[in-house]
Amino acid sequence: MSNTPENIIWHQATVTRARREQLNGHKSCVLWFTGLSGAGKSTLAHAVEERLHQFGCRTFVLDGDNVRHGLCSDLGFSEADRKENIRRIGEVAKLMMEAGLIVMTAFISPFRADREAVRNLMPHGDFLEIYCQASLEVCEARDVKGLYKKARAGEIKNYTGISSPYEPPLTPELIVDTGRQQLGDCVRQVIDVLRLRRILPASPYALPTQCS
Ligand code: ADX
Repeated sequence: MSNTPENIIWHQATVTRARREQLNGHKSCVLWFTGLSGAGKSTLAHAVEERLHQFGCRTFVLDGDNVRHGLCSDLGFSEADRKENIRRIGEVAKLMMEAGLIVMTAFISPFRADREAVRNLMPHGDFLEIYCQASLEVCEARDVKGLYKKARAGEIKNYTGISSPYEPPLTPELIVDTGRQQLGDCVRQVIDVLRLRRILPASPYALPTQCS
């Protein structure tokens, strides 16, 4: 993997992140949802996005299953491939944040070191780790995609929670009990954090375009 290439000079934009944020009426950040498959990361990320969009915020969700069809279609589920998956998403999320968006990512991202590496890419306070906490029993009982069953049968190798580890965050910005709480309550908790951290104005009515 190359580091900073020689003879490539960074071009400074005149339309800065700060100017984009001012235009949008809210700050940008990365909300990094992590948790087991079936914990509800994508569901929560999309529900938060729906709410923010209604407030008039500029948003985007990067979703594990979708990204693996394109940007990361060359990667599997070995430790090295997952690390590369998360590295790429981290870089894309950072670019989108620079573009002024509230970026939400929904990846298992099972390894602490990989998540920390992404955190360290961003200015302090811009990366908010949100642990979607749901027990393996709950996720396995849901088994929306039928993959836990296949993993138990040995048809899928290195399956997170079954034959590959998941390392829960030690000090996430937020823990959401997606295993037990209603979706609406989980969404509210995330929005509250955004207000508390002044990423959103205290009242959504302060945003330039209020849809509903
Ligand atoms: S990550 O570990 O690299 O962060 P990612 O979030 O992109 O994983 O993809 C996880 C999704 O891929 C799961 O929700 C599941 O649908 C599917 N999947 C297929 N094989 C595996 C596996 N071995 N481990 C975990 N998820 C898998």
